[in-house]
Formats: sequence, C-alpha cells, structure tokens
Amino acid sequence: METFHKLPEHVAIIMDGNGRWANEKGLPRIAGHKAGVETVREIVKTSLEVGVPILTLYAFSQENWKRPKEEVDLLMELLNFFIDKEVKSLVKEGVRLKAIGRIDALPPYTLKKLKEAIELTRHNRKLTLNLALNYGSRAEILDAVRGLLTDRVNPEEVSEELFTSRLYTAGIPDPDLLIRTSGEMRLSNFLLWQLSYSEIYITKKYWPDFTKEDYLEALAEYQKRERRFGDVCGKKEVAG
Ligand code: FPP
Repeated sequence: METFHKLPEHVAIIMDGNGRWANEKGLPRIAGHKAGVETVREIVKTSLEVGVPILTLYAFSQENWKRPKEEVDLLMELLNFFIDKEVKSLVKEGVRLKAIGRIDALPPYTLKKLKEAIELTRHNRKLTLNLALNYGSRAEILDAVRGLLTDRVNPEEVSEELFTSRLYTAGIPDPDLLIRTSGEMRLSNFLLWQLSYSEIYITKKYWPDFTKEDYLEALAEYQKRERRFGDVCGKKEVAG
C-alpha cells in the first residue's frame, strides 16, 4: 500500500453521478445508488488502510426530499441495509459512525438504526465516518445562529471558534480535501463554512465507477498542493 508523506486529516466527498451511471447502462436510478453503496464500502476500507482519520460523505441532502418518493424510500432502505450489514465490521475495524444534518427528520426506523450504530461505535478512534444526512449547509448555519440567539450570547463574544463550535461538525476539524465525482463544479450546499480553505479535487468519474485507485490518486494529488491559508507562497505550512 502506497504511503503518503502528507495525508489529509479530513476528507469530505460529494458522491455524485449515481443516476447518470444507471441511465447510461439503461438501468433504473436505484441501481446506481446500490452500486454507490459498494463504492462507499471500498472508500471506507481504503481510508482505514491508508490512515485517513476522518471521512465525511454527503449521503442525503435536504434537497433530495424533492426526488420521487420511491427513490427517497430506497435511499433510506439502503442506509438501513448499510448500517445493519456493516455495523459489526465498523465496530471491529475501529470506525466511529457520526451523522450531521437535521437527522431527527429521518424516517423513525432509519433514525433508530443510525442512533444505535452511533452509540455502538462511539469509542472507536481509528476512523470517524461522518454521514451527512438530511444535511444542508445553510440550514446548519441558521441552526447555529438560532442557538446563539436563544442562548443570548453577547455579539462581541461571537468569534469564528465559537461559531464553529455551534455547527453540526463541532469538534471535527475542517476538511483538508473535498472530492466531488461526476465532474460537476458546485458545492451544492455542502459544508460552506467548513470548506473555506479546503483543497478541491474533481473527477469526471461517476460515484459507482470511483475506485480505490481513483481515491489514491486524489490523495496523491493532495500531496502536491501547497496550502497557503491566505498567506504568501513558499512559506512553511501552518497546517495540513
Ligand atoms: C448522487 O447521485 C448521490 C446521492 C444523492 C445519494 C448518495 C447515496 C449513496 C451512495 C447510497 C447510500 C449511502 C450510504 C452511506 C450507505 P445522483 O442521484 O444525484 O446522480 P445524478 O446526478 O447522476 O442523477
């Protein structure tokens, strides 16, 4: 296995292109999502192998509720199935499951499964697998603002650190690397605050076609990036 001198501490992925993958094969969209779950497994496994400590996957956005009911139901079923099937190996492999988003609005059965898995894996430290579910970044920012107002926090005390601690991602460092599959050049309401200084890697491959080798290539590309955080070039890096 390839070793990297500079590994991102946190990789975030917009898993895109399941529907197009299926369409091009003359299959129903759901076949694309099913194949997408296999890619999720492979990328989790590879993250463990190379030692990426935090992986955030955009699994279901707030906007995804607009899709046909059958597709939404199937995505929830896939999530239930994934948790059921994987929870034992997540525990065994040292994976801690977390979720970000307005998860209380998920179907009750999915929410129950998710909470159980989060509880069962809470002591694991090798990899944090953070699933964005019913997630929208603007909603996250609004929820943080509402929390600050409800707690009557003095405006002068509102620093970047305090605000960060009110987001769903509280306690999780910002992503160092964002990967988006299927070639789209958008953030799609994903981690808008947290991605401010992240490196962005876009591949044309659809998510079901994204392989371990493609992931390793993205990590290799990250090695070459010089992160400046607004400073001049050529200086020793402050982070990541
Ligand atoms: C984007 O493809 C993908 C999604 C909206 C869902 C991603 C979900 C999975 C990979 C499966 C469930 C996840 C886990 C963690 C078990 P798209 O449908 O928008 O593709 P398109 O843009 O080609 O239509």
